[in-house]
Amino acid sequence: MNGDEQSLSNQRVVIVGGTSGMGMGAARAACQAGADVIALGRRPSARMVAEQRVHGSITFQSLDMTDDTAVEQMFETLGTLDHLLITATPPSPGGPFLSQTMANAQAVLHGKLLGSWSCARHAAPRMPKGGSITFTAGGLVTKPRMGASMMMVAFAGLEALTRALALELGPIRVNTIRPGVIDSEMWAGMPQAKRAAFFALVRQRFPAGRVGKIDDIGKAALFLMANDFVTGAVIEVSGGETLVSIE
Ligand SMILES: NC(=O)c1ccc[n+]([C@@H]2O[C@H](COP(=O)([O-])OP(=O)(O)OC[C@H]3O[C@@H](n4cnc5c(N)ncnc54)[C@H](OP(=O)(O)O)[C@@H]3O)[C@@H](O)[C@H]2O)c1
Repeated sequence: MNGDEQSLSNQRVVIVGGTSGMGMGAARAACQAGADVIALGRRPSARMVAEQRVHGSITFQSLDMTDDTAVEQMFETLGTLDHLLITATPPSPGGPFLSQTMANAQAVLHGKLLGSWSCARHAAPRMPKGGSITFTAGGLVTKPRMGASMMMVAFAGLEALTRALALELGPIRVNTIRPGVIDSEMWAGMPQAKRAAFFALVRQRFPAGRVGKIDDIGKAALFLMANDFVTGAVIEVSGGETLVSIE
């Protein structure tokens, strides 16, 4: 596929989670493909001025995707859009099943699954035929990890919603990216030595022989926005994570 086929010129792209990590990678890729990009996240847009200076057509705005009324108002204010990508995962409690409360379990679903639902619900009526919605899940969806049962459920729910909405919203297209380990701010909370050891293990075990970059997800997101025959798909961009064990 050449550069022209992946052109997004004169198209409007909204990225929920575009203030960091994979969303930022996608914002840069869409911007380079000629789109006007609106990147949403909770952090104040003033903090994003430096990024905006480098990538002129990315505009940052504050949004908490767990607030359905705020999401509705945001999409009402933004008006029409061609593509929506949701990479954000609102922080929520994990932990062993037997330590969880109903409130913990609901918080995970309310954040990732219903937050993504809310963005899609309020964006879709403002999208043209052939526009696209892309959710993000994670390799966890096929390989359970101790203490992450509800996030696995949220990811699985999004992959199911992808197929349901591809049918119901067509010709608006709906897809999901299933990322593997991507070097992003998400890992900042892990002590540096532990993170270095984990990334070394990833390089050793993953068939692709390296840790993912936010640009890897950016390229996949761009493909899903630009190729108007792809819908109902889950695209794994994981370096082969789900084929190996990294426990
Ligand atoms: N990185 C990986 O290795 C990896 C692998 C598989 C799956 N994932 C999944 O993908 C998610 C994103 O990964 P990442 O690497 O892009 O993480 P990241 O760099 O931490 O970025 C997370 C983004 O989500 C936004 N966000 C969080 N809560 C929000 C809310 N309530 N409303 C709106 N935006 C919100 C953040 O913006 P603000 O801080 O501005 O709110 C930020 O832009 C992860 O949380 C995980 O569920 C990640």
